[in-house]
Amino acid sequence: MTKPRLQLGRAAGLRSRKTKLSIKPIWLFNRRCERLQRRFCFGGNVRKIVTTFFTVAATFLCLSKYEASAKDVVFVAGATGRTGSGIVKGLAADGYDVIAMARDQSKAKGQTPGVRWVQGDVRDIDSLRRGMAGAAYVVSAIGATQITGPNASEFIDFSGTRNLADVAKEIGAKQFVLIASGRTGPHIDHSTRANGGYNRYFKTKGEEYLKASGVPYTILGAAGLVEKPGGQMGVRFFSRIEYDATTKSTDEMVVIVIPDIAAVVSSALKGPTARNKAFAIMNDVQRPVGAWRKEFATTDTNWP
Ligand SMILES: NC(=O)c1ccc[n+]([C@@H]2O[C@H](COP(=O)([O-])OP(=O)(O)OC[C@H]3O[C@@H](n4cnc5c(N)ncnc54)[C@H](OP(=O)(O)O)[C@@H]3O)[C@@H](O)[C@H]2O)c1
Repeated sequence: MTKPRLQLGRAAGLRSRKTKLSIKPIWLFNRRCERLQRRFCFGGNVRKIVTTFFTVAATFLCLSKYEASAKDVVFVAGATGRTGSGIVKGLAADGYDVIAMARDQSKAKGQTPGVRWVQGDVRDIDSLRRGMAGAAYVVSAIGATQITGPNASEFIDFSGTRNLADVAKEIGAKQFVLIASGRTGPHIDHSTRANGGYNRYFKTKGEEYLKASGVPYTILGAAGLVEKPGGQMGVRFFSRIEYDATTKSTDEMVVIVIPDIAAVVSSALKGPTARNKAFAIMNDVQRPVGAWRKEFATTDTNWP
């Protein structure tokens, strides 16, 4: 049986009545496109190919974004302390790979997945070089454990922070988050203060060294740090000049719960808007829970 021949254009009587133009060129063009689509585009379904392309691209982008955060290694100094251990827990829960430093390995707290403990001392820069190798971010929650002697503020809060900042610079750290105090900062001459002046003077010197180091920083001037569940109160960022005024005007203790400051640290590492900022941080029941997450973008950068 002979196949009926396909007739084109005039032979098929296909002519536009209005324009009197032959449709043959269009038909041929469509036919060629169809063949090309069949050959290269999964059965000629253009919509399908476009959808497939965007799905693959979106999946790739999502995966690469996830990988970037999963592979970001954060070094935490002061990881055995009250605040530092809360920060280690929070960062590990958020998917960071954490290098937690302990002076004394027997203080290394448990085998949390995603946390690798290293031994080191902030006074020993070579131990920092070993411990911090491979880290993209640095978090410090160190604090002097003695009033005088080799573990006093001058050697921990100042020289220790200086050593951490120097090594952070050597390894090209993307950011350094320092847990400071609401009562420290360069807006006051702490050397003339009788109460806590010595500690605050050297803590502030450590902060100023970090700021001048060229390593992107976030300095969190913490209110009283307390161990209570997080995510139940709002968080307020403000200047430490105002912090002084606030703490003088209230008899109540001004606090920040450790899981909340840990969440702020984790969030600060994720976005560039938290960089090169220093501010006081406290819980504030007047503020909506979680509203602080948007505030890094708008928080003033010129606070001391
Ligand atoms: N507590 C508060 O209410 C409060 C309020 C505002 C600001 N802050 C500031 O927040 C920071 C953390 O406070 P925290 O209460 O969590 O302190 P913490 O519990 O006493 O912890 C201090 C951490 O620093 C480590 N450290 C001390 N000397 C070190 C050294 N030479 N090398 C390496 N690590 C060393 C300690 O390690 P070891 O375990 O080996 O001693 C410990 O992990 C401090 O800077 C503090 O001034 C605290």
